[in-house]
Amino acid sequence: MDAHQPLSLRAEGPLSGTVTVPGDKSISHRALMFGALAVAETVVDGLLEGEDVLSTAAALRAMGAEIVKEGGRWRIWGVGVGGLLQPATALDMGNSGTSTRLLMGLIASHPITATFIGDASLSARPMARVTVPLGLMGASFASAPGGRLPLTMTGRCPAVPLRYVLPVASAQVKSAVLLAGLNAPGRTTVVEPEATRDHSERMLRAFGAEVRVDDGPEGRAITVTGEAELRPQAIVVPGDISSAAFPIVAALIVPGSRVTIGGVGVNPTRDGLLRVLAMMGADVTLGQQREVGGEPVADITVAAGTLTGIEVPPEIAASMIDEFPVLFVAAAFAQGTTVMRGLAELRVKESDRIAVMAAGLTACGVRVEELPDGLIVHGNGGDLVAGGATVAARLDHRIAMSFAVLGLRAAAAVTVDDARPVATSFPGFVALMTALGAV
Ligand code: S3P
Repeated sequence: MDAHQPLSLRAEGPLSGTVTVPGDKSISHRALMFGALAVAETVVDGLLEGEDVLSTAAALRAMGAEIVKEGGRWRIWGVGVGGLLQPATALDMGNSGTSTRLLMGLIASHPITATFIGDASLSARPMARVTVPLGLMGASFASAPGGRLPLTMTGRCPAVPLRYVLPVASAQVKSAVLLAGLNAPGRTTVVEPEATRDHSERMLRAFGAEVRVDDGPEGRAITVTGEAELRPQAIVVPGDISSAAFPIVAALIVPGSRVTIGGVGVNPTRDGLLRVLAMMGADVTLGQQREVGGEPVADITVAAGTLTGIEVPPEIAASMIDEFPVLFVAAAFAQGTTVMRGLAELRVKESDRIAVMAAGLTACGVRVEELPDGLIVHGNGGDLVAGGATVAARLDHRIAMSFAVLGLRAAAAVTVDDARPVATSFPGFVALMTALGAV
């Protein structure tokens, strides 16, 4: 890899303007994967062209799908469910946990062998959460110690349909099992005790798969009927709320700011940040609410104002799991204390987001208390934080962008040591922030 790219943002005045953010990462991965399993041409507009999604595209090409970009539109010619081919070389997943875990699900019910490799961050992340259920479906795995990458797996066809109760709230695990079930005989069911993002369910239905959702005492049971035939689709990917979160919090903390982000996905399984910010007293409004490609979308307008510390209800965590790093930043400027618990999953993201955020915030003069499963942030009421630190992003895009946003309201510069990981999910982040007035 080339040299580190340090990043430091500051605000010389209010942020203002109307912008759009790149396409939703979760939906983009799924559009490529389901398109690759449909027969004939799927077209996708608004696909996120971040490194993570490009890793998915490269892996699907290596397994027989034809994927091309024409202007701003992506075209996918799929191989049909059951038609994936043996890849000739290892699949390089880069930094992307979603690519890895969902593709493992796809491969699990195909009679092929594939090796997954990734960067240092991905190679430290737990994969047993998917290899356990996929193993029950008949796939076999050889991995680095602790169930980590590099990992070689062999799928089984016909796979064994499964009923699986998720031990962790994870849309990636849910999706991996459902995707394996697409090419298994009979029905495969995943029960989720807490609702996680439902993009797979929505999009599989649009592609013509039989998907049933039943709410029961154990939680939400999602059932897919296997040996499915997927019909190609025209998909429009909404803006990623997880990317919008950064300009949203930036506008909230820089006095006098007013920013609109157009066309953002506000699926109720993803909009927890908006609900929490509203509880903290933020001025966030949704305009032009509409549906795009089976997903609710809105224009989000945010104005700076006073935030009040709250106890964040732990049951909201799954609907904003990727937004906690930047919520910690917002909480640093609130009046009073914000208590966030039930976030053990943050420790196994691209970095240990509780520990890394706690260290960086402390270095920048924010008072925090680290909990095993969360963080307590003592807000300063909206003043500048001290800043004046260089923060390690640890190959984690959301850590890098969170500290870039913190720097907008710091007395001395906050420098992110290496902002290159931002390209995994939010190409154009710096250009967007500067368009709003950041320097
Ligand atoms: C994702 C699910 C979440 C999220 C990740 C994307 C997905 O991961 O953090 O960025 O697209 O399904 P978990 O399933 O590990 O919670």
